Amino acid sequence: MVAAFERYRDMVPDFSALLKAVETPPPTHIRANTLRVEQEKFRQGMAERGYRLAPVAEIPEAFRWDGPKTPGGTLEYFRGWYQVQGLTSMLPALILDPQAGERLLDLCAAPGGKATYLAQLTRNQALIVANDVSHRRIGILRSHNDRLGITSIVVTRYRGQSFPMRMLFDRILLDPPCSAEGTYRVGARPPLTEDPEVSRRLQRLQQMLVSHAIKLLRPGGTLVYSTCTYAPEENEAVLQPAVEEGRAELVSVDTPFPHAPGLESWNGHRFHPSLKLAARFYPHLVDSWGFFIARLRKPE
Ligand SMILES: C[S@@+](CC[C@H](N)C(=O)[O-])C[C@H]1O[C@@H](n2cnc3c(N)ncnc32)[C@H](O)[C@@H]1O
Repeated sequence: MVAAFERYRDMVPDFSALLKAVETPPPTHIRANTLRVEQEKFRQGMAERGYRLAPVAEIPEAFRWDGPKTPGGTLEYFRGWYQVQGLTSMLPALILDPQAGERLLDLCAAPGGKATYLAQLTRNQALIVANDVSHRRIGILRSHNDRLGITSIVVTRYRGQSFPMRMLFDRILLDPPCSAEGTYRVGARPPLTEDPEVSRRLQRLQQMLVSHAIKLLRPGGTLVYSTCTYAPEENEAVLQPAVEEGRAELVSVDTPFPHAPGLESWNGHRFHPSLKLAARFYPHLVDSWGFFIARLRKPE
């Protein structure tokens, strides 16, 4: 039993099933890169080479990797046929619903799982600014861009909270640093810290990033905020000030995957009732990483 999760006992639907799920190793998922290879050719080619892939009904380009080997070392990987990406980690880009011709910003983009998916979904026909503060992680993002045949991503390196206000964006993805509790599953991550101060420190940065992201959005534009953590301090509590002050409003998350609604209260704090429109993904509901995803709109 993971002691750090105990505080979520009343928050998570079927808490004992969550504890069971985190004690099992997570499956590996990949996303076929349709910028490099047509979907049917990908499926056939991978089967001919002896890779066992199980399709994910809800996302045509997603597959569970059942072996043999690990997916990061095959010739097809280096040819850019696919990206290794957790299933729930694919959802923020899908929920952002990017369109060709738009200006998109991924404010904390490296190593680029979500930004490269935005490029794929828009067939290299949008302008995507992929920003991150980490030089090292930007290097990885660039190598994915090259491998995957992406031509629509411009890479920048700013602190997200001071990203220059030179233009406004149609859609912004904000996937900030978080305590990553959702990536804790046996065989995948060491035990969690139980120090709530970690979440409180991250909350300050996450709130600054949300505020700045809203300023960078055009009126009527869409912001998707995602984390791979369960902590309400890093999720609903981060969005609460912007929603309460009317700087952004929640829009329901459109996804076929089972999830729990965002919280309306936690530990004696009440959140804006519209925060229930956010989605909480748990590994006992979707066999992948735990995630929180909220979709917001900047008022006209
Ligand atoms: C959760 S990861 C992003 C993962 C990425 N969205 C993906 O799908 O591959 C958070 C990222 O935020 C970056 N970061 C940390 N502080 C930042 C800041 N103040 N401004 C911009 N990026 C920051 C980290 O370097 C890290 O790459």
